[in-house]
Amino acid sequence: MDSKICLITGANSGIGKEAAILIAQQDYKVIIACRNPEKGNKALSVIKQRSGNDSVELKIVDMSLQESIENLSKELHNEYERIDVIIHNAAIFDLTQKERFITKEGIESVWATNHIGPVLFTKLILDLLKNSDNGRIITISSKGLLAKPFLKINFSDPELLSGKFNIVKAYYQSKLAQIMYSLWLSKELKDTKITVNSIRVPAVRIDISKYPNLSGLLKKIYKFKSRFSLSPVKMAETYKYLSTSEEVKNRSGEYFNEKNEIVKFSNYQKNWIEIEKLMKLTLKYLK
Ligand SMILES: NC(=O)c1ccc[n+]([C@@H]2O[C@H](COP(=O)([O-])OP(=O)(O)OC[C@H]3O[C@@H](n4cnc5c(N)ncnc54)[C@H](OP(=O)(O)O)[C@@H]3O)[C@@H](O)[C@H]2O)c1
Repeated sequence: MDSKICLITGANSGIGKEAAILIAQQDYKVIIACRNPEKGNKALSVIKQRSGNDSVELKIVDMSLQESIENLSKELHNEYERIDVIIHNAAIFDLTQKERFITKEGIESVWATNHIGPVLFTKLILDLLKNSDNGRIITISSKGLLAKPFLKINFSDPELLSGKFNIVKAYYQSKLAQIMYSLWLSKELKDTKITVNSIRVPAVRIDISKYPNLSGLLKKIYKFKSRFSLSPVKMAETYKYLSTSEEVKNRSGEYFNEKNEIVKFSNYQKNWIEIEKLMKLTLKYLK
C-alpha cells in the first residue's frame, strides 16, 4: 500500500518541524507547508536527513491569505488523490507586535492566520481527506487558555479592531476559536471516516532569535521560562500520536494534552450556542 500522507503547516521550525521528523520516521509521506521558501528548504533537508525518509515535500503557503491557501489546495488536488492527516500547526504569536496588521485581503492577521486560514484550508481539501480510510484533522490550541477562564469570542469585533491592539488577547481568542471549531467540525463529520481533535500545547521552548525586537526584559523572561518548558521534540510526540496511532483511530471531538491524555473542555469552549455563533461568523469570512 502507498504511504500515508501527512501535511503539517508551519513545519519549518519548532514543534511542527520536530513532528515532521517523527512522522516521516513512521514511513509517512510528509508535506510541510511553509510561508518562507528559504526557511522551508532549509527545514526540508534537515527533516529528510534526520528522519532518513526522502519522501518529504515542501509546499509554499501563506496561511494568512485565502488566495494563497486556494493556490495550495489546487496544487494538492493536481498532485494527490488523498491526504490522510492535516495538522494546523502554523500560527503567529509575536509578543513584540504592538500594532495590528491587516492583510492585503483586509483581515486582521492573527485572526486570519490562526483561525480563518485553518478553517478555509480544511474546507478546500476535505474531499482529499474523505478519500483516506481514516482521515485525521488536528488543530492546535494552548494551555495558556486555562489562565483566561473568562475569555470569550468577541462576536461584535472578532478582529479586535477597536481600541489598542493587544497581541495576547488576539492570540488567545484565535486559539479559543480553534478549539470550538474542532468540536463543530467533529460533529459535522460524524458520519464520515474523518476524525477531528485538538492539542492543548503547554509552554514549549521557542527559538527567540526569531524575535529580534524582544526587549532585554522579555528575553530574560523567556530564558527563565524555558527552564520549565517542554522541548519541541517532546511536544511533537503528541502530534505523532494523534496523527499515526491506532489507539486514537476512532477518537474524535477530543482535546489532548502533552501526555497524550484526554483533557476537559471548559464550559464555554463546549457551549453549542457559542460554537454555532462562532462558526456562522467564521464561514462569512470565507470567500
Ligand atoms: N511554544 C509554545 O509555548 C506554544 C504554546 C501554546 C501553543 N503553541 C502553538 O504551537 C504551534 C507551534 O508553535 P511553535 O512553538 O513551534 O512556534 P514556531 O516555531 O514559531 O512555529 C510556528 C510556525 O508557523 C509558521 N507561520 C506563521 N505564520 C504563518 C503563515 N502566515 N503562513 C504559514 N506559516 C506561518 C511559522 O513560520 P515562520 O518561521 O515563517 O514564522 C512557524 O513555522 C502554534 O500553533 C502555537 O500557537 C505553542
